[in-house]
Amino acid sequence: MSKYIVTSALPYANGKLHIGHLAGAYLPADIFVRFLKLKNEDVIYICGTDEHGAPISIKAEAEGVSPKDIANRYHEKIKEGFDAVGIEFDNFSGTDRQIHYKLSQDFFKDLDKNGFISIKTSKQLYCEHDKKFLADRYVEGICPFCGYEGARGDQCDNCGKLIDATALIEPKCMICGNTPVVKETTHWFLDLPKFGDKLKNWIGTKSFWKDNVHKFIMSWLESGLIERAITRDLKWGIPLPIEGNDDKVLYVWFEAPIGYISSTIEWAKNQGDDDLWKKYWMDENTKLIHFIGKDNIPFHTIIWPALLMGQDKNFVLPYDVPANEYLNLEGKQLSTSRNWAIWVDEIAKDFDGEYVRYYLAANAPETKDSDFVWKDFQNSINNDLANVLGNLANRVFTFIAKFYDGKISKYSEVSDSALELLNSAKKIIREVETCYQNYKVRKATKLIIDLARLGNKYFDERKPWKMVKENKEGASETLYVCYQILEIISILFTPVFPKKMSKLRASMNLKSDFNWDDLCTEITDDVTIGEFKPLFTKIEDKEIDTQIEKLFANLKSKKKEKIVHKEDIEFDDFEKMELRIVKIIEVEKIKKSKKLLKILVDLDGEKRTVLSGIAKNYKPKDLIGKKVVMLINLKPKKMMGELSQGMILAATNGDKLSLLTLDREDLDIGSPIS
Ligand code: 2FM
Ligand code: ZN
Repeated sequence: MSKYIVTSALPYANGKLHIGHLAGAYLPADIFVRFLKLKNEDVIYICGTDEHGAPISIKAEAEGVSPKDIANRYHEKIKEGFDAVGIEFDNFSGTDRQIHYKLSQDFFKDLDKNGFISIKTSKQLYCEHDKKFLADRYVEGICPFCGYEGARGDQCDNCGKLIDATALIEPKCMICGNTPVVKETTHWFLDLPKFGDKLKNWIGTKSFWKDNVHKFIMSWLESGLIERAITRDLKWGIPLPIEGNDDKVLYVWFEAPIGYISSTIEWAKNQGDDDLWKKYWMDENTKLIHFIGKDNIPFHTIIWPALLMGQDKNFVLPYDVPANEYLNLEGKQLSTSRNWAIWVDEIAKDFDGEYVRYYLAANAPETKDSDFVWKDFQNSINNDLANVLGNLANRVFTFIAKFYDGKISKYSEVSDSALELLNSAKKIIREVETCYQNYKVRKATKLIIDLARLGNKYFDERKPWKMVKENKEGASETLYVCYQILEIISILFTPVFPKKMSKLRASMNLKSDFNWDDLCTEITDDVTIGEFKPLFTKIEDKEIDTQIEKLFANLKSKKKEKIVHKEDIEFDDFEKMELRIVKIIEVEKIKKSKKLLKILVDLDGEKRTVLSGIAKNYKPKDLIGKKVVMLINLKPKKMMGELSQGMILAATNGDKLSLLTLDREDLDIGSPIS
């Protein structure tokens, strides 16, 4: 028997849970763990909130409360969200607890002692208005790799690449909206290149990992490992355990994964056996499995394993990292800032939490992004659940109650059609087992509903409502076989519907203490059913219409930024800028960027190339021949593999960028502006 540690990404304690979180890192893990527990495997399911880092302090600053208040508030709310949909951890901790501080600092000390840490002075973005280094999510801009707007200071949500904030194009301070400057500061760096060979060898043993995960790592390794800063100039976080430097904290992505271990230590203490965690984390046979969303791949497959490899203790390395893609909503990307989201606590108030589990399992974003569509949610509940599985259960219970007083006997001889159905069921059991074992919950749910469909088909063909009049024993055989199918489903579907399947089993008078092996033991006894209530209630059109209305009513338009005036400058500062009129002569799109256009301008005979973020607002051909104002002496900068030699001026109007075009015959190309 293997031991398993299953984890789900620690959610940031700066907001409530939405269905995208559930679909990516939590529901698939919860289903997997419930399956393993049914198989009597030795498994612990570990999680907690990620309570440090920029998002929490940004929210605290915005609300004028302490980061601890924010972390505590959302720790509770997140826990309530998980409870509402039956995500059941063995331990749910938080990273602002003493156990975690100590362990994270010990991790740092071991790495330092073992020569994996160096100190360097590096350039960071600094906001002169807020007098702050802009770590990670304190800054946003355009991704230098893919051109995505809204890339954060540490990572781009679009291409997933880790970013050095100073490489962001058009960076903006997230507190005041100003453009930051670059300033030097000292940081501690993790020497990732030193782990290169060990990481490569280890990853070489992981050919069974999901394709998306493998592809990501390979491209990362190919582009070469670099040293990564693991400290930040922030007040909120775990102090750097180096005397005289406690104004620095450990980077949240350094310490958050260590939370998987500290949460397990907390679990062990709660079990009354302080050392129990070691039996899991320090046994090389333990299967450590991290369920995450795709944006977390580099941290879990490269940085976290390196941190583990650099320890004196023999920690187990991740066995598998099943990363899921994203869940969209009604065809559009989820956005918490615009409230284009369905919050877990809200949906679980309006609908049975297990409906949410089913729909998200049946549409899990396993290999590609998937979509939550309200109408589709209704159809799936009404058709797959109420009309298929619910119907099978209703019919079986109603008939046994009505014609047999709630009691039927096992058949003595089974008909061919029953045998065929029971053989299909056996095959489905094996397939579902393989699916659960390989995190394929989409396929597992489909197979189980297919089995219920086969049960209904058999019932229809046997027509027990007719047969009962002529051949009562034959009709009873039909019911008995359908009862067996329901019994199988009650086990197969337990990971997805823990509560409903337990109720179903109670109505069927089946034992409450059951496991996967019970699937193979046939029912030999006579059957007496108990009280039965329909498993599923259909969702009405008006319930869905209300949800759709609510979604659109709550959608926030993008915030208009308040005007923030910059500091006064000297006339000399203005004079340094060389602004001139130029004419656009050629424009082309940049392949990998949705935002940038490559523009060739004429500066009275001299030609220059400029990259401008206006691709969404202009078609290339409409720009040819336009006279515009350009800042000529801006230092050339390489973006997306092209050299940009200046900047064309544009006004920002809401989401739109409008070039300052000049419709003036009398102004010559090359004229200076002052
Ligand atoms: O992306 C996130 O929500 C992070 N808080 C996940 C952390 S996972 C782990 F490493 F702690
Ligand atoms: Zn600022």
